[in-house]
Amino acid sequence: MIVKIMRHVLALAFLGVVLIAVSAQEVDRDRAVFDSFGCYQCHGHSGQGGAAARIAPTLYPLEAFVQFLRRPSNEMPAYSVEALSDAEAEAIYRYVRAVREPPAVSDIPILR
Ligand code: HEC
Repeated sequence: MIVKIMRHVLALAFLGVVLIAVSAQEVDRDRAVFDSFGCYQCHGHSGQGGAAARIAPTLYPLEAFVQFLRRPSNEMPAYSVEALSDAEAEAIYRYVRAVREPPAVSDIPILR
């Protein structure tokens, strides 16, 4: 009985590790799309902000996010659908959604 339970526990743990590895690979692929379009030059590699605003983790719904990319703006280059496909925009969106919130200042001991 115990052996049976242990087998199930091990199988579940293995499945968990596989799922985590697969989702990490997806994030890596999406990050590569983000990097290849140069978003990091103004927004930082994790979308944390730099020359331009912080964009990750984004709170925008996908449609608003893509609309912003396509909209001609004086400050940000507009990415037409010919330059950046909807699928690529979605990959970038998934990436900036996957970035975790930074900790609150009060949770960083050296800043207390
Ligand atoms: C040349 C610099 C530059 C590059 C490259 C750039 N951005 Fe921006 N981005 C800006 C600036 C400046 C703003 C804020 C000003 C504005 O509203 O136009 C902005 C704003 C944004 C916003 C809205 C932020 C908010 O909360 O209002 C999003 C989303 C965004 N950028 C995504 C991207 C993505 C995704 C890429 C790559 C495909 C990208 N940007 C590339 C300069 C850049």
